[in-house]
Amino acid sequence: MTDNELIEIAQQYRENAYTPYSHFKVGAAVLTASGKVYGGCNIENSSYGLTNCAERTAIFKAVSEGEREFAALAVIADTDGPCSPCGACRQVIADFRIPRIIMANLKGDVKTMTLGELLPFAFSDSDM
Ligand code: THU
Repeated sequence: MTDNELIEIAQQYRENAYTPYSHFKVGAAVLTASGKVYGGCNIENSSYGLTNCAERTAIFKAVSEGEREFAALAVIADTDGPCSPCGACRQVIADFRIPRIIMANLKGDVKTMTLGELLPFAFSDSDM
């Protein structure tokens, strides 16, 4: 699975985004250590704070299937630059130790970061 293939899957899931309020569609795809891919989209709610971001949808789908080891996550939206995960998603990405985050937009811009670059000095279970 190449980074571009993972971005392509994220883009396909973006089409399923449920965004009646923001109209801002996001897609994500998480690659497991064993090579499986789970995709997700953002799912909004009339009680706005209940909205689930695309990254967390993809990760929670994978975790609910028993996955615990991850290799990378791709996220894509119609942004000026590569789409950057929100703070809440960064914390979830950190808790599941997803080591590489591939950010993209519809124009073909791509930026890849390590988890440490995306969320330095992260809170973790070792802090509790
Ligand atoms: N959104 C995501 O899906 N991922 C992010 O990392 C940032 C924000 C969604 C949530 C909401 O549906 C819309 O984008 C606008 O914030």
